Amino acid sequence: MARQVLLFISLLAVGSVLGQVSYTIPEEMTKGSLVGNIAQDLGLQIKRLTSGKARIYARDTDQYVELNRERGVLLVKERIDREALCKQTTPCALHFQIILENPMEFYTVTVQITDINDNAPTFKKTKIIFKISETALIGAKFVLERAVDLDVEMNSVQSYELKPSDNFALKLHSNSDGNKNVEMVLQKPLDREKQEQISLVLTAVDGGEPQMSGTMQILITVLDANDNAPVFTQQTYKATVTENSLKGTIVATVTASDADQGSNSKITYSITNAADDDTRIFEINEENGNVVLIGIIDYEKSRNYQINLLASDDGGLTDSCKLIVDVQDVNDNKPEINIMSKSAVISEDANLNTVVTMINIEDKDSGENGKVQCFMSDNVPFELRASSNNFYTLVTDSDLDRERASEYNITVTCSDEGVPSLSSSVTLTLQITDINDNAPIFKMKDMVFEISESAVKGSKFILEKALDSDVGINGLKSYSLNPTDNFALKLNDNTDGGKEVEMVLEKPLDREKEEQLTLTLTAVDGGEPQLSGTVQIHVTILDANDNAPVFTQSTYKSSLMENSPRGTQLITVTATDKDEGTNGFVTYSISNNIDGIFDLFEIHETSGEVRLIGNVDYETSKHYQLNIKAKDQGGLSDSCKIIFDITDVND
Ligand SMILES: *[C@@H]1O[C@H](CO)[C@@H](O)[C@H](O)[C@H]1NC(C)=O
Repeated sequence: MARQVLLFISLLAVGSVLGQVSYTIPEEMTKGSLVGNIAQDLGLQIKRLTSGKARIYARDTDQYVELNRERGVLLVKERIDREALCKQTTPCALHFQIILENPMEFYTVTVQITDINDNAPTFKKTKIIFKISETALIGAKFVLERAVDLDVEMNSVQSYELKPSDNFALKLHSNSDGNKNVEMVLQKPLDREKQEQISLVLTAVDGGEPQMSGTMQILITVLDANDNAPVFTQQTYKATVTENSLKGTIVATVTASDADQGSNSKITYSITNAADDDTRIFEINEENGNVVLIGIIDYEKSRNYQINLLASDDGGLTDSCKLIVDVQDVNDNKPEINIMSKSAVISEDANLNTVVTMINIEDKDSGENGKVQCFMSDNVPFELRASSNNFYTLVTDSDLDRERASEYNITVTCSDEGVPSLSSSVTLTLQITDINDNAPIFKMKDMVFEISESAVKGSKFILEKALDSDVGINGLKSYSLNPTDNFALKLNDNTDGGKEVEMVLEKPLDREKEEQLTLTLTAVDGGEPQLSGTVQIHVTILDANDNAPVFTQSTYKSSLMENSPRGTQLITVTATDKDEGTNGFVTYSISNNIDGIFDLFEIHETSGEVRLIGNVDYETSKHYQLNIKAKDQGGLSDSCKIIFDITDVND
């Protein structure tokens, strides 16, 4: 079995169509027969076929050939009957694509099916009858039915033979469609008186190997006189009909005349086409010659028809002519959009020009009616690119961002250029998957707290939460706080499913040691690599009255001369308080009123300066002890003693 392999590898602008390969096989091969070693011919590894889930994409003929990925070969899947597949069309071929994913690409494969001689020529009728006048002239022509052979080229009908050949010879006219019209021509006058019935056999043979043939019997009854045959006004008539015309439409009218009189000039019209199809589409009114449409005319199936017409008079003389009917296309087919392959999801970091969908367009109409342009929705980061004829790829043409749009509905509309134009559209939905391209962020630049140093252990302070636009593991994961000397971090589950972030006082604060604390709150996500965001927490520690005034000495000693004048400044005591404001504002007072001390001494409430306000007399008392109390405004106090020794003067 001869197998031809033609291989073209071409790199096109869009990398998805990589090449094409063509095979030729005869029809009728058994199931499982090898069509071609596709992996080798396309230069693909078997691995790539398996990993790319290589498969056949075919519009309507995918039942015939299958792809064996493991062996990298194309096999016959079902017996191919060329006649069923292509009728008389040559060459007869299957067209399909091999589609691969990851990355998406496709190859075009053509399998040409060659004919084998599996059909014999056949005649529609096994017998035809002629009534021919004995006056028929030498050269009188009688149209015979031609044989049909479903095979093509050499396997179709090649020649005819008529036997016996005493009175008639065969004449073949080649037709423009490649078929032959068969006529029998009178060679030797008939003589009814000698032979009233003549029986002939017409044999059609094809040129196949082995040769096949079919026969038809021709019975001739020889009649008396009728010496004029009908004559058509034209040998070839032409007509035009638009497809989808209604049944009953008169396509053409043919006329023949006959110079005889009476029944010898009564003309009957008929269609003599052998091909079954044509007689089911047209009918001729046998009396008036109107050719009427009785079937469906579809430009997409057949663009013209050749109708062979016969005019016969009752005397059996005939003439033949041809009617050629051209079919005109109307725009009756919408473009068809076929998704060859598509991705439903794509990562937001996909490269530019990543192929997400491959589309094939077909419009059965021809000319402008079949010329198709495709467009897609605006304002999406995708572009529709035309690759080879009627193939489009949808590719990314700018950056994707899941945080901006996580889903796209892309509508592709294809319109033909007919009037009016017909169009179809499909909507493709594409999900964008997340990558970790956003760090957690805090809205505030800083968080500020004022916390009293009296705040108790366990006090809670709600912190601002971070936001991360990514989702899933790329979203916000956890927090940490630094330093952790005074505060611990606590996360609480919120009713809305989120977390509440709190800082909990663990070790009491002491304003007197530190007035300001700065902490850093860090939020991290779970992505790879991990991203983070921070915010500063400024804590101002507010004072509490936790310190009492303290005298610099617990006992002050001083001496004083008797008879010192009133108003004498004696000593100044000082108590300090580490607190601030009123908590640290100290006032002094004398707390013991014995021996008339209140009449003799006075202390300045705020300066702590002690002055003499009465007369001291050595002879009355040699010592005075003052108890001094220092008190802050929060109520804490300390006390000290001042001991004055009175010195004597000579009074
Ligand atoms: C896409 O279409 C689907 C179905 O009509 C709809 O539910 C969805 O909201 C659409 N998405 C966008 C981004 O328009």
